[in-house]
Amino acid sequence: MGSADTTLGVQIRRLRSEPEFEAALALRHEVFCVEQGVPEAEERDGRDRAGLHLVAVRGDEVLATCRLVFVGATVQFSRLAVRRSARRQGIATAMLRMADAEARMRGASRIVLHAQTYARPLYDKAGYQARGRAFVEADIEHIAMEKML
Ligand SMILES: CC(C)(COP(=O)(O)OP(=O)(O)OC[C@H]1O[C@@H](n2cnc3c(N)ncnc32)[C@H](O)[C@@H]1OP(=O)(O)O)[C@@H](O)C(=O)NCCC(=O)NCCS
Repeated sequence: MGSADTTLGVQIRRLRSEPEFEAALALRHEVFCVEQGVPEAEERDGRDRAGLHLVAVRGDEVLATCRLVFVGATVQFSRLAVRRSARRQGIATAMLRMADAEARMRGASRIVLHAQTYARPLYDKAGYQARGRAFVEADIEHIAMEKML
């Protein structure tokens, strides 16, 4: 899987360099820790080096990021963050599409995630189904969702 370009000139692809990884981590810090109040220790959970990271870039600016961790035939999808000024333009939707393609290419049969309940329509539209009841994680209400590939 190479990359995908949206109509906005945003390229969605795998991380390519250490500086880009640092930029993705900085964006996560800004979105999850500063904007949403998630403790740094929960945001940086020690699984980043085991994950496949996707980014949305325009020029050399990282506008969005997400992480896929492969566990057998299951992909654990997390850390989806879009820069505030770039939201509601379909970037997260395009990243979910790219995540599907990466997961299929590596032989995974399902993707699971914990959606913040306010963002559930994003995942509903991308073909995810809710599993079980809502729960609180990092002081934020979530619901488990999954998609069979
Ligand atoms: C949630 C988030 C990733 C969405 O990114 P995005 O690029 O703006 O999403 P999209 O433009 O692809 O949105 C697609 C659809 O998802 C739904 N959606 C997106 N943001 C939403 C919001 N804040 N509230 C409710 N529904 C939302 C809408 O149905 C939207 O379609 P519409 O714009 O035609 O109404 C982004 O707001 C973000 O980074 N938020 C902070 C971090 C976060 O909550 N991450 C997700 C953890 S589960």
